[in-house]
Amino acid sequence: MSNTKITAAITAVGGYVPEDKLTNFDLEKMVDTNDEWIRTRTGISERRILKGEGLATSDMVVPAVRQLCEKRGISPEEIDCLIVGTVTPDMVFPSTANIACDKLGAKNAWGFDVSAACSGFLYSLTQGAALIESGRYKKVVVCGADKMSAIVDYSDRATCIIFGDGAGAVLLEPSEDGSGIQDSILKSDGSGCQFLHMKAGGSKKPATIETVMAREHFAYQEGQAVFKFAVKGMADVSAELLERNSLTGEDIAWLVPHQANLRIIDATANRMGLPKEKVMINIQKYGNTTAGTIPLCLWEWESQLKKGDNIVLAAFGGGFTWGSTLVKWAY
Ligand code: UT7
Repeated sequence: MSNTKITAAITAVGGYVPEDKLTNFDLEKMVDTNDEWIRTRTGISERRILKGEGLATSDMVVPAVRQLCEKRGISPEEIDCLIVGTVTPDMVFPSTANIACDKLGAKNAWGFDVSAACSGFLYSLTQGAALIESGRYKKVVVCGADKMSAIVDYSDRATCIIFGDGAGAVLLEPSEDGSGIQDSILKSDGSGCQFLHMKAGGSKKPATIETVMAREHFAYQEGQAVFKFAVKGMADVSAELLERNSLTGEDIAWLVPHQANLRIIDATANRMGLPKEKVMINIQKYGNTTAGTIPLCLWEWESQLKKGDNIVLAAFGGGFTWGSTLVKWAY
């Protein structure tokens, strides 16, 4: 038996964004806002919205995972486990992963959802990597997916301008050449709950006529407070990750930041000493797709990535949850 350490390599990427666009100009007709304000405060021009009766987060997970399987030339039956980071599951239970496996025909997979808001993909990726590193699993799919339009109040200008729908997925497989997930620093602080949450629909405050009338089934955010924590949290944890791995900005090929606000992204890149050309940014097209943002960036930039590239993934979101992951690109 070889003593080589198994690492979890990303060996394929898939993505899905719905066709329907919601532009800043559309929003101007819905709430008291304007294109210029949205672009200068957030960097967003448009977002995608999943429309259609009964369509849910799993309906974005499925095409993203199918695409990834096609790219890698594998059948969904070969997937051992599917992990879905999401705060907009199809249902409270069963899990979106469970439903998606059925739709995919991933008959040999088990799976589960991870609730960590905008850090959902990083939390899930760390879990998925541990399953591969254990030696017990050969093909783990990690997905970040959110249908934010299901929980956004389109009469609240402070939140409806930010969010969009989308899903991205990566395949993790064992590697013996040291490629893949190198290190992760993940953080959590539940005292941040007050600034970003959904008031009703959980066991604390089940749905009633009153909760519906009070619009308590939508995402509630105190934007400025979240902004302050996000700027510091994402930059601090990314700097810590570089230091712990004896790296500087010069060693990093790409920063893949959660796409919540262009100003938060810029602050993180500056702190890491990275020029804009090394930062993946697609917020202008998709807005904040919560757990979807990071894998959707990898999906769009996949053809530009090279074997051996050091890539830093960084996120901050509701919880608070935040973190940073170092990846050595495998192909
Ligand atoms: O991904 C999960 C984590 N979430 C985040 O990271 C989001 C972090 N927060 C943010 O990105 C920003 O706080 C927002 C984009 C949500 C808001 O930007 P801001 O620069 O923090 O604006 P603000 O809330 O401080 O509001 C500034 C002004 C206010 O008017 P007054 O009081 O100065 O007269 C708001 O009422 O802008 C007003 N405003 C708007 N004006 C036009 C708020 N929303 C809008 C709007 N259009 N959509």
